[in-house]
Amino acid sequence: MTTRLPYPIALSGDGVMLREWRDDDLDELVDLLDEPAIARWTPMPSPFDIEAGIAYLKRAKQGRTSGRRIQLAITVDGGKPLGEVLLFGVDAGLREAELGYLVGAAHRRRGLAATSLSLLSVYARSTLKLSRLVLRIDPGNTASTAVARRCGYSLTGEPPILQEGPYGPSSLDTWELVAASGSTRMERLRNVAARRYGRRG
Ligand SMILES: CC(C)(COP(=O)(O)OP(=O)(O)OC[C@H]1O[C@@H](n2cnc3c(N)ncnc32)[C@H](O)[C@@H]1OP(=O)(O)O)[C@@H](O)C(=O)NCCC(=O)NCCS
Repeated sequence: MTTRLPYPIALSGDGVMLREWRDDDLDELVDLLDEPAIARWTPMPSPFDIEAGIAYLKRAKQGRTSGRRIQLAITVDGGKPLGEVLLFGVDAGLREAELGYLVGAAHRRRGLAATSLSLLSVYARSTLKLSRLVLRIDPGNTASTAVARRCGYSLTGEPPILQEGPYGPSSLDTWELVAASGSTRMERLRNVAARRYGRRG
């Protein structure tokens, strides 16, 4: 793969469009990120205020223009941001990278995280040619482990990474999606969002 990640990009499929963050997303970004589950399970500053939002968008742009990370707003049609999905920590030698995601509280349980993670994972595997994708998740974060499982990631036996956060300690397990899993898993990823969410209304 190239060591510089492509910018700008947009990925879409299954009712989701992932697009670059824009400066005029600031108010909606703050609305999304100033929320207890995000404070508990991600390294976001809390409270997440306008100042934090400005710094966040600035850092996102630096990460994108320097080609170090992929950081995309989750939208339905390219408009209002509903969450975020990221790819970072690329190891070009090992051909691996870490991914992360969050969805605003008002938009959860509609398949947005699973669809977005699957879109970015397929892109990472097929376009960036990465062979191992990892997620780091505290086992207490049941929503996130469900997203990982749904997208075909599996729990590794790697020792947990211990972190102290303002809202308590985290013990991050490593989940992975590896090339050796073959076409069946890729097929499953591509089909992830095809499953119905109707039962959640
Ligand atoms: C984790 C998070 C991104 C999930 O977003 P979402 O859009 O609601 O997830 P989806 O609708 O795509 O759900 C995917 C799967 O997770 C399950 N799930 C989602 N939220 C759940 C919850 N609170 N409890 C149990 N399962 C849950 C869904 O039922 C679905 O499972 P299925 O495949 O069995 O149908 C969201 O809760 C969030 O932003 N949390 C705070 C930030 C965070 O924890 N980020 C991850 C850090 S590792």
